[in-house]
Amino acid sequence: MAKVKHIIMLGFGDMGKGIAQVCLMAGYNVTAVDINDQIIEKGFDYIKTGFEKLESKGNLSEGSVAGDYLAKLKTSNDIIDAVKDADLVIEAVVEKLEIKQKLCKVVIENSPEHCIFASNTSTMSITEIAEICSKPENVIGMHFFNPAPLMRLIEVIKGDKSSEESMNIGVEVAKTLPCLRGERYIARVQKDRPGFIVNRVLAPRGIYFNYIIDLAYEKGIPWEQVDADLTAPNTPMTSLTLADFTGRDISYHGGLYYSEKLSPDFKPGKVLRMQIEKGTLGKKTGQGFYDWSKGRPQPNLSKKAGIVNQDIFNAINANEGCRILEEGVVSSWKVIDKAILAGMNFPGPMEYATKNYERLAKLLETTAEKLDKPYLKPCDLFKSGKFVSMI
Ligand SMILES: NC(=O)c1ccc[n+]([C@@H]2O[C@H](COP(=O)([O-])OP(=O)(O)OC[C@H]3O[C@@H](n4cnc5c(N)ncnc54)[C@H](O)[C@@H]3O)[C@@H](O)[C@H]2O)c1
Repeated sequence: MAKVKHIIMLGFGDMGKGIAQVCLMAGYNVTAVDINDQIIEKGFDYIKTGFEKLESKGNLSEGSVAGDYLAKLKTSNDIIDAVKDADLVIEAVVEKLEIKQKLCKVVIENSPEHCIFASNTSTMSITEIAEICSKPENVIGMHFFNPAPLMRLIEVIKGDKSSEESMNIGVEVAKTLPCLRGERYIARVQKDRPGFIVNRVLAPRGIYFNYIIDLAYEKGIPWEQVDADLTAPNTPMTSLTLADFTGRDISYHGGLYYSEKLSPDFKPGKVLRMQIEKGTLGKKTGQGFYDWSKGRPQPNLSKKAGIVNQDIFNAINANEGCRILEEGVVSSWKVIDKAILAGMNFPGPMEYATKNYERLAKLLETTAEKLDKPYLKPCDLFKSGKFVSMI
């Protein structure tokens, strides 16, 4: 197996700077490439500040100082020059297929024979990203969670043509990347299906979420009361605060994507479409469900609307987990739960479902009918409970 020493971070924005930092922490030489010089400067400052903080807290490895790590970081806006001696290129540029395809082709044409191209795409097919390049066997997915230094999960994804060797190298490198909040968890994703593991299992909860907020809007129920229903205990942010924080545009585009790839039932609901039209996207525009102009809102959840059944979310997530087991994305329900815990900091849905699937499957039958969303019907693996032995 080729030894990885030099990693290129292609795209030095929100994700790129965090991924570059963990690669430096693991001791790799890193070249960060971006087309925007200001972003390069900001990314460099972010990493410098990060290492200085680690140094001041005594969290760097014994005898080393921030400067030792920074000395291994180069920046560039010339991709062809940067990749000429690269072993691994991790791509985190904008989420546009044509750009990722073009960059993949340029990297494969201008880098050494063994160089691997790994995309950090959240949604796109690795197979499609590799489609126009000459060595699709060298292309994989390496999906980090935001921020990469703190979130433990990395999904390593096999495209239809990725070689086992490229996958093995991706997994081996991922295992070496430290995480500041506990032990890394590397999930090997064996089939290139929309959303991979975590985003896919959580995606269809948006169908029920949209139904609830549309219902609340029609009935004139205040958002705080719906939020009190939607928010599970012990979560760091309330549900609607989190929706605003992530950005309503992200949910909208996610809904459209899954509606094309999986089912029209994912199409954005009425309230979400209105938020997009009005530009009330959440934190980034200062207004979403809540007003963000004075900082993070502190909703009062003392009064519930009483229109949400939390078990429907549990059932939807576990059913989707069974779908990806059926599709061969993973072969164990435990991997799904571990990936969700490591990527989202909350427990996955599968263990609970192993003991409750009969009741949850019935709940899904009635919910699918009531909401007129056939996608929510329980799949065969869920209904039969046969997933329980897939450990
Ligand atoms: N933000 C998240 O929470 C998150 C989580 C997981 C995965 N992702 C994925 O990571 C990728 C990047 O997301 P982000 O949030 O960091 O975006 P971002 O907009 O912060 O950064 C993208 C960067 O790519 C640069 N860029 C664009 N075209 C380029 C090119 N041709 N060559 C070099 N650089 C170029 C831009 O200048 C920008 O700095 C996307 O594919 C996204 O889906 C994002």
